[in-house]
Parts: sequence; structure tokens; C-alpha cells
Amino acid sequence: MDHLDGLRTRLVVDGGRRLEGSVEVPGAKNAALPIMAAAILAEGEVVLHAVPRITDVDVMASILESLGARVREQPGGTLVIDTSSIASHAAPYALVSKLNASFDVAGPLLARFGRAQVPQPGGCVLGPRAVDLHLKGFEALGAAVTLEHGSIIASAESLTGADITLDRPSVGATENIMLAATRAKGTTTIRNAAREPEVCDLAEFVNAMGGRVRGHGSSTITIEGVRKLRGVEYTIIPDRLMAGTYLLAGAITGGDVTVKGLDPAFLTALTDALSASGAQVTASGVSVRVQGNAARKPVDIVTSPFPGFPTDLQPQFVAYLSLAHGTSTVEETIFDARFVYVSELARMGADIRVAGRTAIVTGVERLKDAVVEAPDIRAGGALVLAALAAEGTTQIGGLEFIDRGYEFFEEQLATLGASIARASAVEPVMPRQDLGETIRMPRIVTPFRAS
Ligand code: EPU
Repeated sequence: MDHLDGLRTRLVVDGGRRLEGSVEVPGAKNAALPIMAAAILAEGEVVLHAVPRITDVDVMASILESLGARVREQPGGTLVIDTSSIASHAAPYALVSKLNASFDVAGPLLARFGRAQVPQPGGCVLGPRAVDLHLKGFEALGAAVTLEHGSIIASAESLTGADITLDRPSVGATENIMLAATRAKGTTTIRNAAREPEVCDLAEFVNAMGGRVRGHGSSTITIEGVRKLRGVEYTIIPDRLMAGTYLLAGAITGGDVTVKGLDPAFLTALTDALSASGAQVTASGVSVRVQGNAARKPVDIVTSPFPGFPTDLQPQFVAYLSLAHGTSTVEETIFDARFVYVSELARMGADIRVAGRTAIVTGVERLKDAVVEAPDIRAGGALVLAALAAEGTTQIGGLEFIDRGYEFFEEQLATLGASIARASAVEPVMPRQDLGETIRMPRIVTPFRAS
């Protein structure tokens, strides 16, 4: 209903400003979530620093609390997790259904309590989020796995190390099997394992708790079971996906942006593609600088597991390519439905044709403002990038997705010179021509989110 549409909170972006400056990269969502789940393994308090303040973290904290753990937040992105009072091994559907990564609690619950009951993840807008590889891994370790009333139940008197080859290098399956194996008898080998930096961070966290994980970062990981794991203080690695989004914000606006605090090797696939497009990339120490170039060239990319081009930067890179001089092809190999956002970019004037798993992106002279809706986290990032480069004032809905993954997004972009604010309410009136209807332009009520 359109009158309600106008009442929703949106990001309002005045496009066309060159972004310049530097940003400290916050902690990585995709490391923080499995590490929070892995805290279940610790007999003692876990203190995590650099935990991003995003709603996915809130959901994972609520899942841990629903199991009986105590989770305390301290200022500055620190979480204190005490799992000594865990009394349940059944994660509630109402929370699990909000977060696919919640299935990460299964491995640690199985390892520590011999039983995990987690509703089967239903999938999301990106496509079905299967967990068959997680379950095959649990079974190989000796667990019995059943599906009852929509929940997966994994149970075992004890687990025994096994040699497991994944059909594909699934991030979640590598993590869950690694966690399940931490207290198994003997040694587990995971072959064709995911090599993502977040998988490595999880392995480092397990080792800090007293576990014995080796080979992370390569495609063969070994886990030697230990009797118990202890509480620990640990700092989450920086978020390469946020960093990549900021670099693209610099590039798409023809600006000059530096991200600080992360290993440039986390971003090689992106920075290679940016260089190929004509942007100037300088990596040194723990920072990466990108200077955009208005005459950007088309680039063909194929998403693939790390160290390949990350699927989680694909939508943002497509936004960038939509202003290149020529035609690029972008092939998505990780998720079945990761081009759902393309119709929203098209509403801003982008010329993108999707054929199966490939998007053909023909660069246009300029993007124009529109009222658009983010269908998922990274698509939200892409729409913000497009809006930063577009003429006029773009309104982006679907903030609940952006808030799942991007900490202080608009605040950070504003420090780089963007005109971006969170807004709601209802004036003045602006025509939405494509639908022949009228909506009300938001009045800015909350320039920045409270921290
Ligand atoms: N898959 C299977 N069977 C399995 C597991 C996965 O078929 O048992 C399929 C999935 O359906 C999907 C593909 O394999 O099509 C990749 O899945 P993977 O397990 O690698 O991904 P994930 O663990 O579910 C994590 C990130 C995603 C990121 C992917 C790929 C977290 C919390 N999530 O998901 O992040 O896109 O790896 O790198 O780590 C995001 O941050 O926006 C996001 C979606």
C-alpha cells in the first residue's frame, strides 16, 4: 500500500559527490557469527572484541541466550559470552529462521553436549541454503542425524575423527564440521575445505581456546580432538566485504578512498578487477587505497570461493560496472539467485541483462535517482553505491537487510563526503513516474543511527 510505503524508513542519498578519505574497517560479520557459535565449546568466559554492531549479531546473541548462555555487551564492540549455564540444545525456530548462519550452533552443541536440535534453514532470497554437507560431516564423525518436525537433530554418545571430503568448499560446512570435530576422539581431516579468511579466523579462535586445528587457509584442514576447550579473549578480523564496499564507493564516485586495518591479500580479487577497470590501487602494510577513474573499462568476473572474486562483492561490483565504458560479463557460481537486485539497479537506469547465472552489464552514461528496495544485504550495498554515483536523490528501502551486515554504514560514508541519511516520514510529495503514482518524499528525522 503506497501510503504505508512512504512511511517506511529509508536511506536517502544525494548522489554525485566524490568520496575521499580513509575508513577503519570494522570486525567481520562472517567471522563474528561462527565465532560466537563456537563460544558454546568453551568451559569459561569468552570475551570477543571488534564484534560488529549489526542485527545478525543480535540474533546470534539471542540464540545463545535461548540455549541458556549469558551474553553481555560492553561499549566499543565487545561481547562477553558465558556458556556455563547452557541448559538446552534446541535452537528456537523464531530466531533460527532469521539467520542462516544460526546453523553454526549445531557443530558446537554436538561436540560439547552430544546433541543438537536446530530447525532446518529454509533458505533465503539468494536461493536454498542447503546443509547436506554439514550433515554428512556430522555422520562421518559418528553422529546420528534425523529430521523431526522440521528440525535437524544430530546426536552421538561420542564422536570419532574421520576423513571427510566436501563436494564443494562450503564455508558453513567447513566451519560446522571443524567445530564438531574439536572434541572428537582422534584426528579429523576436511578435504576441499573452504579457505576464506573468516574460516581461518574461526580456526585461530578454536586454537586460542586450546583446540588443535592445522592447515586452515589451505584446502586440507586437520583437527585433532582435545578433551576440553577454555574461555579466551579474542579479537575478530576486519571485514573484507565492508572494506571492499568502501573501496568501490571511492571508485564509483571517481574518488580516492583508503581502507585501513586489514591485510590487502583479503581483497586481491577485487583490487585486481579494479585495476583492470583502470582504477589506481595502492596496497601497503594494512591498508588499501583506490583512486577512481572516470574512464573506467569493462571487466569480466566470475565469482568463486576464496581467493576468487567473492560472491558477497558481486552486486556492488555490478553497480560499479554499470557505469563502465563497454560491456562486462559477471558470472555467479556460488548462489542460485544472486541477481535479484538487478531490476532495482535497472530502475536507476542501469542496462543489465541476466541469462541464467550470467549478467551482461552494458555501461551507461549515468545513473538516475529512483525509489528502490534492497532485497538482501549485499544488494543493499550495491544500491547505496549506485545512489552515491547517481544524479539526484535516491531513496533506498529494505534497511533491515543493510542493518544485518553493515555497521555504521551511512556514518562512515558521510565521513568520506557522502550525503546520506536515514529518514522517515512523509513530505514533500514527489511523483514516482514509472508506476504513475505519488509517494511522499521523506523528511529527515534521524540523520544518524544511535550507536
Ligand atoms: N551448499 C550446499 N550444501 C551445503 C552447504 C552449502 O549445497 O551443505 C551450497 C549453498 O546452498 C550455496 C553454496 O553452497 O549455494 C555456498 O554455501 P556456503 O556454505 O559456502 O555459504 P554459507 O556458509 O551459507 C557464507 C557466508 C555468506 C557467503 C558464503 C559464500 C556467513 C555467515 N555467510 O555462507 O555470506 O556468501 O559463505 O562465501 O559466513 C553475506 O555475508 O551476505 C553472505 C551471504
